[in-house]
Order: sequence, then C-alpha cells, then structure tokens
Amino acid sequence: MTMTFTASARRVADAASLVPGGVNSNFRLGISPTPLVIARGEGPYLHDIDGNRLIDYYLGMGPMILGHNPAEVIDAVRRQLDYGLLFAAQSEIEYQAAALMNRLVPCAERVRFSCSGSEVVQAAIRLARAATGRATILKCEGHYHGWFDNVVWSVAPPAADMGSVDAPAHVPASPGLDPKAGDSVDVVVWNDLARLETRLRKGDVAGLIMEPIMCNQNVIMPDAGYIEGVRRVCSETGTILIFDEVITGFRVAPGGAQSLLGVTPDLAVFGKAIANGLPVAAIAGRADLMDLMVTRRVMHGGTYNAHPLGMAATVATLTALADGSVHDRIAVRGRRLMEGFQTILRNRQVAGRVQGLPQVFHVTLGVRDPIHNYRDQVNADKAAYVRLTTALLGHGVRALERGAWFLSLAHDDAVIDATIEAFDHAVAEALV
Ligand SMILES: Cc1ncc(COP(=O)(O)O)c(C=O)c1O
Repeated sequence: MTMTFTASARRVADAASLVPGGVNSNFRLGISPTPLVIARGEGPYLHDIDGNRLIDYYLGMGPMILGHNPAEVIDAVRRQLDYGLLFAAQSEIEYQAAALMNRLVPCAERVRFSCSGSEVVQAAIRLARAATGRATILKCEGHYHGWFDNVVWSVAPPAADMGSVDAPAHVPASPGLDPKAGDSVDVVVWNDLARLETRLRKGDVAGLIMEPIMCNQNVIMPDAGYIEGVRRVCSETGTILIFDEVITGFRVAPGGAQSLLGVTPDLAVFGKAIANGLPVAAIAGRADLMDLMVTRRVMHGGTYNAHPLGMAATVATLTALADGSVHDRIAVRGRRLMEGFQTILRNRQVAGRVQGLPQVFHVTLGVRDPIHNYRDQVNADKAAYVRLTTALLGHGVRALERGAWFLSLAHDDAVIDATIEAFDHAVAEALV
C-alpha cells in the first residue's frame, strides 16, 4: 500500500501566505513529497492530517527517546501545570533536574538551563572567551552548533567550496550573516589529531567546540585515540574543550558521549533528549568555569530558562534514562534495524553504508567504505537517498532526508520488523 499526502501538501501551500514556506524552521522546508501536517503523536507513530499512521524516525529531530507520549513525562508535566506556569524565581524542580545531571554527566559540576541548543552553545562560547581572554573559537567541518551567526560556518559545505584539508574554507551556511562573525571562528577537519594539534599550538584559541560523536553530517565515531588526544592538546594549550552533546546527550548513554568515550570536556551543552520533547537545553561543566557567571558576571539570561514545565519533563525523562536500561533495550532493536538495512542494500546490490550507534545511526548511499569525517561522504548520492525516503514515506515510514535514524523505546520488535519490510519495498522501488 502506498500512502498519499495531499491534505498536508494543500495545507502547507495555503499556509505559505501566512508563514514563510508554510513551516516554522528552515529544516522543515522542501521535504519530499511535502512537509507534513501532523495531528498527533503516539508511541513510535505520528498521525498526519491525511489519516496516515507513520512510523516516525525523526522523533522531533532527536528528542523523543521515550517515544511520542510516554506516560511518565506527560503525567509529570500535567502535575506541574497545577502549580502555575512561570515564576521568574527558583523552584525545587530545577534543582532536582540539576542534581540528576550532576549525577549522570561526568563534566557536570555545575549546570544552567535554557530553552534551545543554539542558546547554550552561545553561553559556552562566552565562558570560554571570558576564561581565556582569547577570541578565536575553533569548530570542526560538518558539525552543527545551532543557527546563530558565529557558528553556522562550514556546516555542510559543497565539495567545491571546502578548501584544503590544511586550511578548510569558512563557508557561510546562510545569506545575511555578519561577515565579521566569521573572523573569530576557525575551521578544522574532524578526526585528524595532527592538524588539530598544529592549529591549537598557535595558542590563540579560546575554545574548541565539537560533537564528540559526529551526528549532524552522518554518524561518525571518533577514531581510536582521537578524543583522548583532543583532551590532552586542549589541556596543554589552555584551550577550553566544549562538547556539543545536543544530540548525543542522554541518547547514546545516560551520561552522554563523554561517558561512553571516557573523556571529560571542560564544558558541554545538552538539549533534545534531555526533556523528551519539551524545549529544554543545558550547559554543564567545570565549577570554576561555570561560576564565572557569578564571580565575573559572565552574562547568561533568558525569561524562560528552567521553565517549570520543561524542568518537570527533564526530571521525569532523566529519571527514566538514569540506569541505562532504556539505552540497552533500544540498542538491541537498533542493531537489528541497522543489520536489516545493510543486508537489504547488499542483497539488492545497492552501494550504501549503515554506520553509527543503535540509538542514532546513518544510512549513506553511494559510499561503501567507512566514513571518518565530513569529506569522506561529501559526494554521497543524496538525490537517491531522497528518492528512498520519499518511497519509505509511501510505505508508512518517516525518516530524515539527510540520512539519520533516531530510535525510541517505543519502537518495539513489531515496529522494527515493519520498518525493515518497508525499507525493502522502498529500496526496490526507488533504487533498483
Ligand atoms: C549538535 C547540535 N548542536 C546544537 C543544535 C541546536 O539546537 P537547537 O535546535 O535546540 O537550537 C543542534 C540542533 O539540531 C545540534 O544537532
């Protein structure tokens, strides 16, 4: 059976006279065959306004690790509603959330909450500059740290614009950026310790920010010794090491990538899975750095910071994730899904690669060899992949066009089986 999406297409087109493109984030623009209009979420499913029930692997772009309507999170938010909405003061629930983070996340001696990953990245950058008195922020090619002017550089540069490996170009990801914002950010290729070391030895970098497991362009594990080397060189050069765990945090392990990899950054930022769908983000890190917000009044503000509803969701979510059993259960099913996809690609003789972790992995077409950094996959067959996700949607499976697959606890064995079957049909239709 192939599903149709005409009601969504019509509604989005109509709404474009009111809302640019009919969508409220540029990442929702131009999805094939149409951006969807959703009526409700339930477990692993989304129900759209065409009446389709879709197995969802977007999971809100990552947050919904417990599924779309986990009782413990919904109940906690409902209970919190009875106490009022916003206090511009402290409440016990935010201290509980901070204590949970402190228990789970190795670097989290101190914690502050905000509402989006983009915001807490800015807080981390400001702390790094204040702590070191240096201006330059170093980021890695292909990594995404939010949509603000000083970090949306070389996020997904076309091959022709990337520049050399020794001096990657600064490629703006949007028109309208402050051209000067690019002056204080420098770009290195990821998973290359020698080049990073050469750059950091110049001694002018305030902070190095990276996704410790690269999840925005592909899902790429650090090579053996790389992250340990990054930690050592940052310490030796007085560079603040910032892990952007907005995707990996609470998703790949209760303590995030830093606990999985056994390397502790100076600062780390979190979002997405922290509150299973409520708009919560956090910055966590070394006490002496975080306390600069007090001792030197390094500015971190926000009307909605530590919003009580978000904090209730955070406590419920982190409590559910704390012992790691959710991750273990997702891992078994995620591995089955990854193996199922790889087998189908092999049997149908489609060049493609499935790599990453079972809680978040990536399918790349047109590439067979292991992918170590952005450049290894820049020439992947993205058009073919969009054909594949379009066909998958017709078979009731919603997966990101960029290749990522997010899993939740609600994706049970039957859902995994149905997905593998749909994948086989979609590959046959779109790629063979
Ligand atoms: C690694 C990473 N950092 C930061 C962000 C920005 O977070 P937000 O969209 O909550 O502003 C994202 C969003 O996808 C992300 O993946």
